[in-house]
Amino acid sequence: MSQVKHLISWQDWSDGEIQELLEFAVYVKKNRVYFSGHMAGRSLAMLFQKTSTRTRVSFEAGMTELGGHAIFLDWMASNFLLSDIDFEGKYLSSNVAVIMARLKKHEDLLVLKSGSTVPVINGCCNLFHPCQSLADILTIVMDSPNDWQKKNLCYIGVHNNVANSLIEITAALGIHLTLVTPIASDESIVKASIDRAKKKATISWETDVKKAVSNADYVYTDTWVDMEFFNDPKFQKEKEERIQLMMPYQVNAELLKNTKAKVMHDMPIHAGYEITRDMVQSERSIIFTQAENRLDAQKAIIIKLLENHS
Ligand code: CP
Repeated sequence: MSQVKHLISWQDWSDGEIQELLEFAVYVKKNRVYFSGHMAGRSLAMLFQKTSTRTRVSFEAGMTELGGHAIFLDWMASNFLLSDIDFEGKYLSSNVAVIMARLKKHEDLLVLKSGSTVPVINGCCNLFHPCQSLADILTIVMDSPNDWQKKNLCYIGVHNNVANSLIEITAALGIHLTLVTPIASDESIVKASIDRAKKKATISWETDVKKAVSNADYVYTDTWVDMEFFNDPKFQKEKEERIQLMMPYQVNAELLKNTKAKVMHDMPIHAGYEITRDMVQSERSIIFTQAENRLDAQKAIIIKLLENHS
């Protein structure tokens, strides 16, 4: 059997492999019907240690459309809670064809991968959200099919897992990414990702948010507080400090008034914080198309990873 290919981050994927996957995702999106039945008789295990709407629904619906089956596993209701992650992962991989996991810690995901004999897909950890970034770029490609590589993407927000995966995928595909990230802790930054982007000259930083959006074709924002902390009373003080610091960077009509930039957000949205409700619903918002594209991206990832894995 050939070596198992995983999608933990884009670090283990060459520029050519990422380009090929993106082209395949476009093909899957345009030819949905070709792939019905493609995963017949195969199962996907979906392990969640954190909440989700899009990741769960798109993977489960995607697997259904492909003719396969998806099994939802809540970490707290499974014996991952009690045992060693690699042992549980080894068992899981003996019963399913592919595993998607949303774990809190990247290190735990690597342990799961070490135990698994089938492909493991990162459904968002503290460091990366690769599936989201594929859907994001798929959205830009569908929106600007003729010149997507020349488009400028501007990420405004906290430097987080979404930013890291955007840095990696834009580097691989040659898309320019400007980061406006007033909060960027050492723990959230992945040096290898930035080095890849620097080598390809696809990354720059800007502190003046108005200047950043004036050159942008797509303005992308994300929550200022990670999902697991949003309603956590222990995180309340930090949440309030973040809101105060980040409010001048809110994506709103005033910020974008002299630009034609389209607006992106990976969702869930916290309207009134990182973005205003009117921006989400404005004509320039492609947010709901972006979320819809998760389905096609997940299907492309599942099919590609299982291509050489019987
Ligand atoms: N963007 C995203 O991953 O959405 P969920 O957290 O709802 O899965």
